[in-house]
Amino acid sequence: MNKREIIISQDSAELCRQAADKFVGLARHAIIQRDRFAVALSGGSTPRGLYALLATPEYRGQVSWAQVHLFWGDERCVPSDHEDSNFRMVRQALLSRIDIPADNVHRMAGEKEGRLAAAEYEQELKNFFHLTKGKLPRFDLIFLGLGEDGHTASLFPGDPALNETESLVTHTHVEKLNARRLTLTFPVLNSAAEIVFLVAGASKMNIVAKVLEGAADGSTFPAARIEPRDGRVTWFMSRDAASALRLGESQQLT
Ligand code: 6PG
Repeated sequence: MNKREIIISQDSAELCRQAADKFVGLARHAIIQRDRFAVALSGGSTPRGLYALLATPEYRGQVSWAQVHLFWGDERCVPSDHEDSNFRMVRQALLSRIDIPADNVHRMAGEKEGRLAAAEYEQELKNFFHLTKGKLPRFDLIFLGLGEDGHTASLFPGDPALNETESLVTHTHVEKLNARRLTLTFPVLNSAAEIVFLVAGASKMNIVAKVLEGAADGSTFPAARIEPRDGRVTWFMSRDAASALRLGESQQLT
């Protein structure tokens, strides 16, 4: 299995279509295999277009939402109706337009105190994945974004959360944003069967090249530490975001 694939699309609209097709295919396969599809969603702006596309009649009818369980890879520590909330963004773009059981939507409680919210979410993961002591949840799919500083989820350069190896979920104060965040930790991210990065815009071209082709030091660029032990990483990028890459054999232009 090719552990890493790079799919370059003309623009973010085509990137979202590629990612939506991947979501539908993985969901269908997981539901056939295990009667459920566990996916962790990314926040930020890039995936909004994907979630909105999945909510269209063309796509939503292809997914058996009753077997889909939506989690979040990270969340801002704000109420769920706050403009910065990743849950709010997904509710507006997707949840409000599909018929998914409320019990299948596993949001992080951004409104609660960080330590408590992280502990509660960790317990929710343990319950859902029936984890025994020391075991890790294996998501069928985790969507991730890439910040210009190389952060992914809410794992930021130099943050102590990068070194968390025991907890499944942690909370952190992101100095540069002066904001509190909740995030899945590297052990959980690297336990996924499929990781899909969604990266669009010329502003990401330099960090994309550093993470994918530079001698990336994981502590400098957290996204470079995404290396699932038994999983595949697919980078869906717009042409401008990928424009500093030296295209190799694994790249596909769509
Ligand atoms: C968040 C995300 C974060 C995001 C990157 C890229 O909560 O903001 O989890 O990691 O994916 O910052 O964001 P854009 O896609 O908006 O560039």
